Amino acid sequence: MDILKINGGNTLKGEVTLHGAKNSALPILCSTLLIKGESIIHNCPQLSDIAETLEILEHLGCKVERNADTVSVDASNVTANSIDEAHMRKMRSSVLFLGALVSRVGCAEIFLPGGCDIGMRPVDLHIKAMESLGVSVAENGSSISCKTLGVKGAKIILPFASVGATENIIICSAVSKGKTTIINAAREPEISDLAEFLNKCGARIYGAGESTIEIEGVKELKPCEHRIIPDRILASTYMSACAVTGGDIVINDVKASHLTPVFPSFMEMGCRLYLKDKSLHIVAPKRLKRVKSIKTMPYPAFPTDSQPMVVAALSVANGTSVVKETIFENRFRYVGELNRFGSDIDVSDNLAVINGVKELNGANVISTDLRGGAALIVAALKANGVSTISDIYHIDRGYAQIEQELEKLGADIKRINNEEVRKREKEINA
Ligand code: UD1
Repeated sequence: MDILKINGGNTLKGEVTLHGAKNSALPILCSTLLIKGESIIHNCPQLSDIAETLEILEHLGCKVERNADTVSVDASNVTANSIDEAHMRKMRSSVLFLGALVSRVGCAEIFLPGGCDIGMRPVDLHIKAMESLGVSVAENGSSISCKTLGVKGAKIILPFASVGATENIIICSAVSKGKTTIINAAREPEISDLAEFLNKCGARIYGAGESTIEIEGVKELKPCEHRIIPDRILASTYMSACAVTGGDIVINDVKASHLTPVFPSFMEMGCRLYLKDKSLHIVAPKRLKRVKSIKTMPYPAFPTDSQPMVVAALSVANGTSVVKETIFENRFRYVGELNRFGSDIDVSDNLAVINGVKELNGANVISTDLRGGAALIVAALKANGVSTISDIYHIDRGYAQIEQELEKLGADIKRINNEEVRKREKEINA
């Protein structure tokens, strides 16, 4: 497995451009299964999670082609209704194939999804929603079988504004009989992007981005072209990397309104933010200030996915910051690794108390999950001396060639492949 080797201490400077949002591309690609014809999706990032999703679509009978960041999916002939456990376990979003398959072919045989190990992550809300839409669901250990004689519109009240459950309901009910209303729907920009794509295909989805979404089922959808929104979590990763190194960078292709939940924290850290057209210029101070309190919450509040990278930046701020995680019960797993750099972070009851230290020192650390891995990169960019980060397959799920992008900004960062790592280990042990 590859590792990242980072020689910390360089100040980030220059320009970087965001790739498309992983969490938008995944549901949109799943939903192409509903469409008889060729959907063309632009700005589709080259990530391992996307490759897995495309493999699943091919297995289900779709013709898939990728040309750089453009992907076409022709779902004229769907020939299978089951997905094997290995593919399902690779990522959480595979559960969205439940709604897509049930709507398209009337039945689905899948397994419980996997994804980052950041908490329990049950799928009860997805299952209950499917049942409300007239789908019968049988669970047997880790396998889930669903069938329906036709999806019927329903009023669904979500006890929690789950992103995935909202997406599954939209996908399942876009082609259906009757009207579906989602009360307490998730409001994330990725939900709006999914609705925009499906509406271009002829769906009638109203209110995406608000707490109540109405879906008037249509008979069929027609293919269209769509461009995925820029990745707001990638933007907050670059912002954290810039902040921690006292940098001065321009991030291109940002959607400022998607980033308003994180702007106040960076400003409180002492960063200056300048927005011009689709670019964000961020200038960090020599030493960051502490942030009094951050609480992760569903959009439009501070995103849980940005939390680890911001905590890594705050580890060297002047003063004590407090960060409360409310979405996932095990999202601070990376902190044990982060503290190997010499940071002083205590976690108890999903509350992190970050006592800012003056400097970090290089360390050999292991990535625990996708965003936790990104937090380790942020810390290593600041740390004195050389750091290595292993298990970076987690990071590759959400960041396309992150080392090349950070190198363009002046970071001293290299990907070392498995063979080189083994050679080095042999040399050390000789
Ligand atoms: C999506 C994002 C993920 C992000 C999260 C919250 C994708 C591919 N992933 O994940 O990056 O961190 O939103 O913004 O878009 N829950 C249940 N039962 C369910 C579903 C969810 O209890 O059936 C709980 C989860 O365990 C979690 C909370 O609800 O504690 C939030 O989950 P949800 O909003 O569904 O997140 P995901 O869609 O999994």
